[in-house]
Amino acid sequence: EVSGEEGSVKGITELISSLPLEMRCASFPLRQYGGFWLPEMFLPGLDAVHSLFEPRPSDVFLASFPKSGTTWLKALAFATLNRATYPPSSEDHPLRRRGPHDCAQFLETALVVSDDMFASLPSPRLLSTHLPYSHLPERIKADSSSCRIVYICRDPKDVIVSWWLFTKKSLDTEDGPNNGGNKPTLYTLEEELDLFCTGRSANGPYWCHVLEYWTESQKRPDKVLFLRYEEMIRETTSNVKKLAEFMGCPFSNEEEAEGVADTIVHLCSFDHLRNLEINKNGVTDLNIKNDSFYRKGVIGDWINYLSPEMAAQLDRVVEDALRGSSLTF
Ligand code: A3P
Repeated sequence: EVSGEEGSVKGITELISSLPLEMRCASFPLRQYGGFWLPEMFLPGLDAVHSLFEPRPSDVFLASFPKSGTTWLKALAFATLNRATYPPSSEDHPLRRRGPHDCAQFLETALVVSDDMFASLPSPRLLSTHLPYSHLPERIKADSSSCRIVYICRDPKDVIVSWWLFTKKSLDTEDGPNNGGNKPTLYTLEEELDLFCTGRSANGPYWCHVLEYWTESQKRPDKVLFLRYEEMIRETTSNVKKLAEFMGCPFSNEEEAEGVADTIVHLCSFDHLRNLEINKNGVTDLNIKNDSFYRKGVIGDWINYLSPEMAAQLDRVVEDALRGSSLTF
């Protein structure tokens, strides 16, 4: 006889194998579920998020489309939210010993065990997700729940280039873990772009992902904060202040006078984080090399990889998809 738990695992495995499959994304298979192409390996986690995860009113969720600045947002939010416990100027700040990804773990990757492994974390918890807004459990989104969501969005041209180079690097250095030991071949950037433009990229379509969070941030600005990578690069300190206010921990006058926000900005800056030993040679709890999350960290590097025609193709697709919404790039 199949126990309840095994029964539900069997149920989810069967459901997953019945979903439309996309194998052309070089790093892992994607399955189309609820309008999005999600990495197959995270679908059991999605199921666990819905069945097991118990949000707390003080939870903060960091949401993003992959390669939009997740690592940076994790570092900034962690340092800001926990500054009373860990002064950002301290020599033994956790971010000097742990990669940002281990300071705010992904809901959908961590919850594949049989109980809520986040239950033991002290409040306020900082968690992250690449899931689309529509896939988050109602318990997180409900008006009655006071937990907050911060979304970071980035120019899709930089997103696709960053993703392609990230995939290329991981394929150059290791065998694909989810491809039965066969080393997958990297698609050309042209092929990647074609897939991306049909929405077939990890957590795609990109424009649906962004638009869902944008729409919600417009409807409920206290619930969803919509940040842009480009604005954060240009005006990091004022965005950190905005983030602090949104998370319910604004900087006091005393902290303003001491320049605490600037200290956080420096602690989390690309050059500082990238050069820490843990980020040069360490791996995340999920065994991904920390250094793969630091490449260039600038606006507009796509110009060195996409032809003007490729850039125009992507801009056109995104523009068409967002027409009629108040979101523009
Ligand atoms: P590039 O590949 O364009 O350099 P994610 O964290 O969502 O995976 O996104 C990775 C992108 O964010 C990479 O972009 C990476 O270099 C950039 N990044 C990582 N840390 C950063 C930081 N502290 N400041 C600015 N950009 C950062």
